[in-house]
Amino acid sequence: MDAIELLCHDHRMVEQLFRDYAAAGSDSQRRGVVEIIVRELSKHAALEELMFYPLAKKVLPDGQQEIDEHLAEHLSVKKTLLALDGLPAGDDQTDALMAELQQEIEHHVQEEESDLMPRLRAAVDQQTLDELGQALDEAKQTAPTRPHPQAPDEPPSLALAAPVAAIYDRLRDRLQKRPLT
Ligand SMILES: [Fe+2]
Ligand SMILES: [Fe+2]
Repeated sequence: MDAIELLCHDHRMVEQLFRDYAAAGSDSQRRGVVEIIVRELSKHAALEELMFYPLAKKVLPDGQQEIDEHLAEHLSVKKTLLALDGLPAGDDQTDALMAELQQEIEHHVQEEESDLMPRLRAAVDQQTLDELGQALDEAKQTAPTRPHPQAPDEPPSLALAAPVAAIYDRLRDRLQKRPLT
């Protein structure tokens, strides 16, 4: 899967989890679904922030402003996730928080899939999306599994920024017909 396919695959999985939540028949089943959603969305948000948004920021003309808006929305998602993460099974705040989360995620998916992703696909070549997909897939194994609204949401260190910088360098090399090794 390339980077965009991989992130859209996450979106479909989370949509299914919301359906599972609605269909669950007991507090413990509902709590089980909440914990999987917290885990999957925490990983998804971290991967986008560390690897997908930095590339979009570099290659889209208005990337900086657009990504700042996405990061602000991620922050409110992470706050909702953090509130859900701390609840016990059967807590009566769960339904309201899940409804709020579902709205935030529908908005997130709509903006990414109808705007950000098509524009990124048009701005880079397939090889770049394939390389980024590979990097995302590997990073998934070590991505944070809980929400961290206080943590930096942009690559804080060279080590984390390096895979995206390398992918971007190779894209520029191809576009500028530099020798490939
Ligand atoms: Fe996002
Ligand atoms: Fe996303």
